[in-house]
Amino acid sequence: MRNESVLVVDDAPEIRAFLTELLQGEGFAVETATDGQEAIEMLEGRFFDVVLTDVNMPRKDGMAVLDYIQEHSPDSICILVTGYGSIRDAVEAMRKGAFDYLTKPVKAEEVALVIERALEVRELRRENQNLKKELRTRYGFDRIVGASPAMQDLFDLIEKVADTESTVLITGESGTGKELIAHAIHFASDRRDNSFIPINCGAIPPELLESELFGHEKGAFTHAIRTRIGRFELANKGTIFLDEVGEMSPALQVKLLRVLQDRQFERVGGVRTIRVDIRVIAATNIDLEEAVREGRFREDLYYRLNVIPIHVPPLRERVSDIPLLVQHFLERFRQKNRGRLERVAEDAMQCLMAYEWPGNVRELENLMERMSILASGPVLTAQDLPASFTRATGYPLSEGIPVPVPTLPEEGLSLNAAVQTFEKNLILQALDRTGGVKNRAAQLLRLNRTTLIEKMKKQRLMTPATRGRGGRPAKKKPEGTAPSRAAAGA
Ligand SMILES: Nc1ncnc2c1ncn2[C@@H]1O[C@H](COP(=O)(O)OP(=O)(O)OP(=O)(O)O)[C@@H](O)[C@H]1O
Ligand SMILES: [Mg+2]
Repeated sequence: MRNESVLVVDDAPEIRAFLTELLQGEGFAVETATDGQEAIEMLEGRFFDVVLTDVNMPRKDGMAVLDYIQEHSPDSICILVTGYGSIRDAVEAMRKGAFDYLTKPVKAEEVALVIERALEVRELRRENQNLKKELRTRYGFDRIVGASPAMQDLFDLIEKVADTESTVLITGESGTGKELIAHAIHFASDRRDNSFIPINCGAIPPELLESELFGHEKGAFTHAIRTRIGRFELANKGTIFLDEVGEMSPALQVKLLRVLQDRQFERVGGVRTIRVDIRVIAATNIDLEEAVREGRFREDLYYRLNVIPIHVPPLRERVSDIPLLVQHFLERFRQKNRGRLERVAEDAMQCLMAYEWPGNVRELENLMERMSILASGPVLTAQDLPASFTRATGYPLSEGIPVPVPTLPEEGLSLNAAVQTFEKNLILQALDRTGGVKNRAAQLLRLNRTTLIEKMKKQRLMTPATRGRGGRPAKKKPEGTAPSRAAAGA
C-alpha cells in the first residue's frame, strides 16, 4: 500500500472500473468521479496527489478540472486522457500545465509509468524548493541584523524595490553591509531562482575588467585563446552586482551606460550584438556625486545607476545595532570556533558602543571572531579588549585599564551624588583590600596618602578604627551599587 491518492475522472463506467482496478493493484488509494463537476466538488473537499481525467465529459470537461487544479491545488498532478486523434486538446492541456497526457485507448503499463514519473518529478521539485528556501534564508533579510530606525527603514526599502526591475545604487562606507544588501535584494526578487553575479570593479585590473564584464571572442587579444562569456551574459535572467562601480575607467563607463540603456553589448573583439535580461545593482564607497563634479565619473551614467539610491549609514551612526550585532557574531563564532565566549559585559559593551568603527560591521565582525578565540571565559570584559577600543570610551585609562562607567538612568541622576558614591565605593574597596593600610590603599587609587585622608574625611570614612596605622576599616564591605569591575563583569 502506498500513501498517494489518485482521483480517476471519466464518464464511461468501464474506463473508471478499469483504471480503478489497475491503480489499486499498484497500491494507490483510488476514488472516482463521473464528470468534471463532480471532480471539482471532490477536490474542494480534499487533496489528491494525482488526478487522471478524461477530456470530453458532460457538465464540466477535463480542461475545467485542469484549470481548477492549477488555481486551487497546484501541488496535485494532473494527467489528461484525450480521445484518439485529438492532439489539439493534448497540446492545449500541456500548455495549461498538465503534467502529461495519455491517448485512448489507455494501456495499463503506460498509466502506471506516467504516474510513477509524475510523482518522482514532484518529489524533485519539492527538494529543489526546499533548497531554494534555504538559500533564501542564508542570503535573505534574516541575515541582516539591525534594529535601529535607520536599518528598519532600509528593510522597508529593500522590500519595496526588490520586485522591481529598477537599477539600485547602494552607497555607504566600507564594511557597512552593501554586498549583503545586494544579495538580499536579489533573493527577495522574482529573479531569485537565477544567478546573482557579483563583480568587484575595483579589484580587477582595468585592462582585464572589460573582457571580464563583456566576455571576448577567440583571438580578440593575445591571450584570448578561446571565446569567453562575460559576467553580463552569465547574469542573464538574474542580477549583476557591480561592486565599487566608481572605480571604472572612462572607456568602460561608456560601455556600461549602453548596457544600462539598451541591455545590449558586444563581446570584446566580437561583432554580434548580445542582448541580456538583467537587473543591475551597483555599490560604491566613494562619493559618486563628487566624482561627477571632478569629472572622474560620467554624469549620465550616475543618473542611470542612481535610480533607486540606498544609503547604508556607518555603524557609529546606529549605535543601537551594536549589541544585536555583537550577539549575532558571538553566536556565530561560538559555533564556528567552538569558543566559550557567551556574552559581553556592560563595561566592554560601553567601550564598543563608544568606538568609532572606521571599518564598520566588518571590523566588529573581525573583532568578535578574534575575541571568541582568545577569550578565557564566557564573559568578555573591557579588560579583554584591545586598548584601541577601550580608549574610545573617552574615559581615563589607568595603565591601559579602562575605568568602569555607570549608565546614565533614563530619568537622569545627580552627578555630584554619583561622583561621591563612586569615590566612596572605590576608597572603601581599596581600604578593604589593603586591610586598612592607607599607604597601600592610596597607591591602589594612585593618590598620595594625604589626599586619600582628606577624601576619607570628606566622605566621613575616618572612624577611630581607620585612624591608626594598620587599623581595620570600619566597614569591610563596600556599600552602594556603583559598579565595580567585579560587579560589571559578573
Ligand atoms: N547588518 C548586518 N548584519 C549582519 N552582518 C553584517 C551586517 N552588515 C555587514 N555585515 C557583515 O559584515 C561584513 C561586511 O559586509 P559587506 O561585505 O556586505 O560590506 P560592504 O559594504 O560591501 O563592504 P566593502 O565596501 O568593504 O566592500 C560581511 O561579513 C557581512 O556579512
Ligand atoms: Mg563590498
